Amino acid sequence: MAERYKNFIDGRWVEAKSRKTFENRNPANWNDLLGLFPLSDPEDVHRAVSAAKKAFPKWRLVPAPKRGEILQRVGELLRERKEEIARTMTREMGKILKETRGDVQEGIDTAFYTAGEGRRLFGETTPSELPDKFAMSIRVPVGVCGLITPWNFPMAIPTWKLFPALLCGNTVVLKPAEDTPATAVKLYEILEEAGVPPGVANLVHGTGEETGATLVRHKDIQLISFTGSAAVGREIAAACGQDLKRVSLELGGKNAQIVMEDADLDLALEGALWGAFGTTGQRCTATSRLILHRDIKETLTKQLTTLATKIKIGDGLDESVEMGPLINEAARQKVHRYVQIGKKEGARLLTGGETYEKGKQANGYFYLPTVFDQVTPTMRIAQEEIFGPVISLIEVKDFDEAIEVLNGTSYGLSSSIYTRDMARAFRAMRDIQAGITYVNGPTIGAEVHLPFGGVKDTGNGHREAGTTVYDIFSEWKAVYIDYSGKLQKAQIDNVD
Ligand code: UN1
Repeated sequence: MAERYKNFIDGRWVEAKSRKTFENRNPANWNDLLGLFPLSDPEDVHRAVSAAKKAFPKWRLVPAPKRGEILQRVGELLRERKEEIARTMTREMGKILKETRGDVQEGIDTAFYTAGEGRRLFGETTPSELPDKFAMSIRVPVGVCGLITPWNFPMAIPTWKLFPALLCGNTVVLKPAEDTPATAVKLYEILEEAGVPPGVANLVHGTGEETGATLVRHKDIQLISFTGSAAVGREIAAACGQDLKRVSLELGGKNAQIVMEDADLDLALEGALWGAFGTTGQRCTATSRLILHRDIKETLTKQLTTLATKIKIGDGLDESVEMGPLINEAARQKVHRYVQIGKKEGARLLTGGETYEKGKQANGYFYLPTVFDQVTPTMRIAQEEIFGPVISLIEVKDFDEAIEVLNGTSYGLSSSIYTRDMARAFRAMRDIQAGITYVNGPTIGAEVHLPFGGVKDTGNGHREAGTTVYDIFSEWKAVYIDYSGKLQKAQIDNVD
């Protein structure tokens, strides 16, 4: 009998009211069933939102340093259970153990960073323009937040949202991706053990179409924070727009790495391999275009193709494996569709382009690392997010063309340039249209205390992580205290 997991509502583990469930299977071996999870319907969402609403008035008055202390404890428990959680995450999501350990570590880092923020959460004081008047601005919580998170970072992304939301005094309902519900359960076990009061953090499993959409539309939710595809992001933004609900979106990317002719080529090669094939290319920050200066293109192309072919594919629980499967069959078909599109558009397939089904890997959603050459900047494979182990090589004649090609997509999340020329590095920092730019590093590897997010269709102007996430999860309130004892009228009293 498969284990039945539950929702976490108002401090208790509960089934969906309908008792319906969905399966969570291992993408490296679909015969491996991790468990059954509640297929929640609007009724379950409603219960969770009511619990969060009920818990809000008390939680908002808990001093922020105290809320921070609970998150400190959460970080400690995550650290104790890091290995166990990483193993579960590899089983349900497929990425290799090194990476799932990193994913849990990102949650630990966020917990400790957020805990410290409990003793800052700074407002501002400023002189008033009137005598005997004091002026300041403070942060106040927004209310009940709905968090909808993807499967590619089952710990990092929920914690990026959840911890700052809680620290600011909000209460939350999390709807994790249906492909990775087990990691979310572990996170909530820890929240419970660390002493997060009942109703403050709720967990509701289910589909985006039903559970997620109900959360987005719920009248008692004041804020939606979503990470996922641009298509779904647009729908959420439209719905939140209608309801005048605060919404922060982290959407797709079509990230590129530029390699100039003066770059350290070994370093650039290593970065490209990691950026393109790490997490089987399933990161919003994955490198899906490699923009190469024509003088070094041939050398780098050869080396990249050889090394891509050698990547060891398999079950991420095997420490020698370098690349796990895709998340599910729909993802594999999508990647394969893009490979066909690329071929039809006239790009040259150098390696990969097929599913991988050898031996023990016959029951998983594996796909070969794929390299396309002779890609032109406007081809669909150079424009659209594939979210798989596919990299497109684009040749350019100089720096200006490299930047133009890099900027020539609708997305703007991460970017990278390899060069030894300081002037070029600084120009790239200034001219690249992206939320993140790496110099002599791959497009992946964001740290939790810097802003994370992107420009153009990558989002709607918000930044998670860093200090900027607090602007998502708190409202600014301006406060004036007049101790003059008379009516003072700002601008109007100000006569020349
Ligand atoms: C994502 O790609 O969805 O920089 C998040 C990175 C990670 C976070 C990525 N720290 O790749």
